[in-house]
Amino acid sequence: MGENGNLRKGHGEGGGNPLSMVRNILNPQHIRHAHITGWGMEVPNRVVTNAELEAVVETTDEWIRSRTGIQERRIASERDSVVTLAFEAARKALDRADVLPTDLDMIIVATSTPEDIYPTTASRIQNLLGATRAGAFDLSAACSGFVYALNMGAQAIRTRSIEKALIIGAELNSRVLDWNDRGTCVLFGDGAGAVVLEGSEDAGGLLSCVLGSDGSGAELLGIPTVGRSSIPDGWALHKIHMDGREVFRFAVHIMQDSVRQAIDAAGLGMNDIQLIIPHQANQRILTAAARALNIPESMFYSNVHRYGNTSAASIPIALCEAEREGRIKPEDNIVLVGFGGGLTWAAAVIQWQGVPRPQKRGLGAALAQSRREVQYVAAFWRDRAMRTYRRVEASLRGSPAKNAAMREEREKKRRKRDDLVDPPNDRNPK
Ligand code: ACO
Repeated sequence: MGENGNLRKGHGEGGGNPLSMVRNILNPQHIRHAHITGWGMEVPNRVVTNAELEAVVETTDEWIRSRTGIQERRIASERDSVVTLAFEAARKALDRADVLPTDLDMIIVATSTPEDIYPTTASRIQNLLGATRAGAFDLSAACSGFVYALNMGAQAIRTRSIEKALIIGAELNSRVLDWNDRGTCVLFGDGAGAVVLEGSEDAGGLLSCVLGSDGSGAELLGIPTVGRSSIPDGWALHKIHMDGREVFRFAVHIMQDSVRQAIDAAGLGMNDIQLIIPHQANQRILTAAARALNIPESMFYSNVHRYGNTSAASIPIALCEAEREGRIKPEDNIVLVGFGGGLTWAAAVIQWQGVPRPQKRGLGAALAQSRREVQYVAAFWRDRAMRTYRRVEASLRGSPAKNAAMREEREKKRRKRDDLVDPPNDRNPK
């Protein structure tokens, strides 16, 4: 179990530097805090109900509802990709935060279903947004990935190496489901959620984070991919496999442990927490975890009935919906907790918007919005221009040896063509 930082007032940035430590003790306001200032989500339009799944796999609506709480999920169309969902979620988060893409320093995408192992989803998002100053990388920690990524972004803000980060959880689980395996295919859905993190001198934001991993459970849940030398019986390349019962037991145990640890690391007690936003996997896991923590189940926000398990996207999607439904208020302390393949787990305590920023209205809001739109259009044309430039440059500036080899190859082909239509014997009759 790795406890990863306590960002409380009085602890944190500059910890290793004696001068900074003295400065922080004398002036705790000087410490940098990482606040969530914007959030957004995107799910595919297509709703797939349990009843529809009855037609494709041996299952029933009753079984799925009673064992998981799931009633429907969103499934991507052929046109959707993890990038398009993540991009839309990111745009909404930037709008909400009123941050320009060019102001971002870092983009992290937590995903287990990228289009490519590389280039990363984050680099594609960086390009689409026109976030020309941002470093970008993907983070792989299965369903715990979003909280891991949030912590990475917050730590970079805390150490002042960056000021603004975009953190995304995005998944296209439908592309890695084995639709013959009723034990997994009914559980998952697609979607994306994003938050903007910004540094501030004001206390609050991410207060603590606990990250953990137990690789001895690696076989319980995973998606085998190209690097594997062999695939065990019953697994398929690029498809999710899971030992549901074992993962269930692990989830209940680790949720209560990590929630307690994160609250403790924030210097708070359970009574100080207004809402827990867990990874949405199974309503029964939440019921069991609430019982183990001795809290009402209503303290766990749940939308698993609408979306199923969207892996790394589930926590940011739930965060967006909880906020929209008025379940989170300024100054509330909330806990995010995830668990998943690895095995991995992560829990974070956040003091929600300790400093609500004044929302722009009317002309101001429209101007800010149009500046972002201009950057997206500029990003589109920059992308086109760079691709064309690379193509033209490559054709103009091939190496002399390569150019000579290509000329020779072309010449050979021309001779062969000539021979086909005009054989040598006919050309030089003896
Ligand atoms: N429809 C009908 N019957 C089914 C289905 C289905 N979709 N799936 C399984 N069954 C059957 C099984 O075959 C079994 O039948 P049997 O008794 O004749 O063998 C029976 O139902 C019971 O199966 P269990 O696996 O014991 O069912 P359980 O109550 O444990 O529920 C479930 C299964 C829903 C998968 C549960 O174990 C669970 O939610 N586990 C945790 C999953 C989870 O949290 N995953 C997180 C992933 S996070 C990430 O990183 C991707």
